[in-house]
Amino acid sequence: MTTPTIREIFDSMAYGPAPEGHAEALAWIGKHGGRFGHWIDGKFTKPGTTFATKNPATGAELAQITQGTADDIDRAVTAARKVQAKWAALGGPGRARVLYALARLVQKHARLFAVLETIDNGKPIRESRDIDVPLVARHFYYHAGLAQLLDSELPGHKALGVCGQVIPWNFPLLMLAWKVAPALAAGNTVVLKPAEYTPLTALLFAEISREAGLPKGVLNIVTGDGETGATLVAHPGVDKVAFTGSTSVGRRIREATAGSGKALTLELGGKSPYIVFDDADLDSAVEGLVDAIWFNQGQVCCAGSRLLVQESVADRFHEKLKRRMDGLRIGDPLDKCIDVGAVVDPVQLATITQMVDSNTAGETYRANTPVPQGCFYPPTLITGLGTADRLMQEEIFGPVLVSMTFRTPSEAVELANNTRYGLAATVWTENVNLALDMAPKLKAGVVWVNATNLFDAAAGFGGIRESGFGREGGWEGLLAYLKAPLLTKPVKTTPAMAAPADPEVTGIDRTAKLYVGGKQARPDGGYSQAIWSPKGKLLGHVGLGNRKDIRNAVEAAHAARGWGKATGHNRAQVIYYIAENLAARGPEFAARLRDLTGKPGEAEVDAAVNRLFTYAAWADKFDGAAKSVPMRGVALAMNEPVGVIGALCPDEAPLLGLVSLMAPAIAMGNAVVLVPSETFPLAATDLYQVLDTSDLPGGVVNIVTGSHSELAKPLAGHMDVDAVWTFSSTPLSALVEKESAANLKRTWVNNGRNPDWFSPSAEGRAFLRAATEVKTIWVPYGE
Ligand code: NAI
Repeated sequence: MTTPTIREIFDSMAYGPAPEGHAEALAWIGKHGGRFGHWIDGKFTKPGTTFATKNPATGAELAQITQGTADDIDRAVTAARKVQAKWAALGGPGRARVLYALARLVQKHARLFAVLETIDNGKPIRESRDIDVPLVARHFYYHAGLAQLLDSELPGHKALGVCGQVIPWNFPLLMLAWKVAPALAAGNTVVLKPAEYTPLTALLFAEISREAGLPKGVLNIVTGDGETGATLVAHPGVDKVAFTGSTSVGRRIREATAGSGKALTLELGGKSPYIVFDDADLDSAVEGLVDAIWFNQGQVCCAGSRLLVQESVADRFHEKLKRRMDGLRIGDPLDKCIDVGAVVDPVQLATITQMVDSNTAGETYRANTPVPQGCFYPPTLITGLGTADRLMQEEIFGPVLVSMTFRTPSEAVELANNTRYGLAATVWTENVNLALDMAPKLKAGVVWVNATNLFDAAAGFGGIRESGFGREGGWEGLLAYLKAPLLTKPVKTTPAMAAPADPEVTGIDRTAKLYVGGKQARPDGGYSQAIWSPKGKLLGHVGLGNRKDIRNAVEAAHAARGWGKATGHNRAQVIYYIAENLAARGPEFAARLRDLTGKPGEAEVDAAVNRLFTYAAWADKFDGAAKSVPMRGVALAMNEPVGVIGALCPDEAPLLGLVSLMAPAIAMGNAVVLVPSETFPLAATDLYQVLDTSDLPGGVVNIVTGSHSELAKPLAGHMDVDAVWTFSSTPLSALVEKESAANLKRTWVNNGRNPDWFSPSAEGRAFLRAATEVKTIWVPYGE
């Protein structure tokens, strides 16, 4: 081949190849004889039964990797356990130094990491070099800072223990950083399992961590497939599980950990909307889309994979987009001029191909650009789909964009939210009012305005609904690795008073019904239960709610979601009013508590009034934040209501316990379905009148009395409930967590220990955090 003259190059304007060398990366693999064991207790184990990890761009084998066994997992967890207390005792500043050294080492070895990532995963070197690896370093720097400040900023918080972490193949090293940095900063130790397609950078990182002075056993890497992951998740020595990957595996992990007492965060799939309004800068929006769906070949959980474009500009926008697609260069990921690299594995390529080929709806456009043989898939756009089409709903996890049109902003919101996921959303418009009006309405953990795929260690990332729960990044991410200083005691079970042989029945009959949608409602089943005092006096009857009553209550709660849009000030006024009305009837409530429990009730009523005051105070003070992200712009962390929260209330303090759960939830704008103490339900039913006279909109608080073990299942399994808490005396933690897997709702369970409801630790931030979702809204600025 003759070298082209400068004139010829100027005439054609074609890009020449600019390959990055991979000799150093191969030499590192060679140094290990092309075979790797696990990294346990500060050294590599001997390789066991192995499988190959390949370069997807060429199909060439890179190395043999050990399939982790139950024994390997056990050895790694044991090593992590052995050093955990010592690592925590090192203190925040001590750990900060190690994290800082890790950040420095990532930078010093940046090129090796980038090349190794690219050959193992297939992503363009431009991305691994300029995005993945710098973000990894930034994550360790940022968390070195969090570790330094943790003791003073979060006093009383303790590490959870040993963390079992399972990560996917799309951002192998970056996902490691997102998992490992907060875990270590908080004083936990780690056993991490990388994805089977992409284990190499995790092994390199582990080896290099020695140079940072990371004590042996603090970080362990066990390689292997899903079975190894499942074994890690199930290991009884693991205190916290953190997972990123598919929703189906996330659901299985939720079920597998149910009732184990393990903390859990899940970062799962998405089908994130990318909304383009007619006043958007269309050329920028096209560039944004290139990042949204062709970054990392579309194998991105938060990929803007669902284009919603306003009808008036749709044709023009699609034309511009197709022209841009034709200009994308696909090929050797090590070539610095390549835009789209290889799909991670032939299995993933087959999945993408099958999904697209089986679609018969709409029109499919494939980029008119050369596509090499092998594990490559052309950038693809499918227009004219309907909301029910499979490709509009399911994650393809490849370079395939689907598109629909809309007419009005409210239609855009409706279409955007028409998904079971809730990870990210993008809005393009030059109208700041419209953008900031849209952002809170979109059901997503992250919203980008006139930008896309922005990430930073300071800004929380994570989803709602079937995209999982928990945040990574920022203080909110660190908190997922810490135990809040909540004073707890073993749950006290108080069985209901049995009917006495010689009952004392006085006065006029009083039967408390259920409280649904702001009205008293007869229980669907038509059953009631007598409530007796310890002295054998009939105190009244309560309705026995069933599955249908829960359904009605959830429906009423949904109808009351306007409460979430009320201002914090307005919500505070209502909660103060509830407190005022409860206080006015204090002696009556105290007498009721005495009748029910046989103990004086004044202190409990007083504490309940005080708790209402606390949350009235918080209603307009649980502030979000403007995160210091490294760009011209802001990343706003907004505390939004979770939605509809179901709560099973405790027996120990039947009034105070219920108020301690209800008040933070409604203060933050949620609607609730409460199941009061099964033994002492009348303390709750007396509240109906207090709520009725306090200007609380109907449906914000719904109360269904009855058997906890019967009501827990329909409540925790309900697809329209966003979170369930149990502080019941009945051991229901396992059941609630298991049932919650249906729609992956958030849970807060007592595992047999309840807060001391009278203690100041039983109120405040831990409760407010459970009642809110952090939404990160990125707004870059500048012309
Ligand atoms: P996956 O969810 O099966 O794998 C992710 C990680 O989980 C890997 O390390 C895997 O070994 C491990 N794993 C698998 N089964 C497990 C189990 N039962 N218990 C514990 N760990 C387990 O994802 P996969 O199969 O690689 O990709 C399938 C689809 O998942 C993709 O097409 C995509 O739609 C989605 N996905 C989403 C990701 C995201 O970031 N949201 C990341 C990776 C995949």
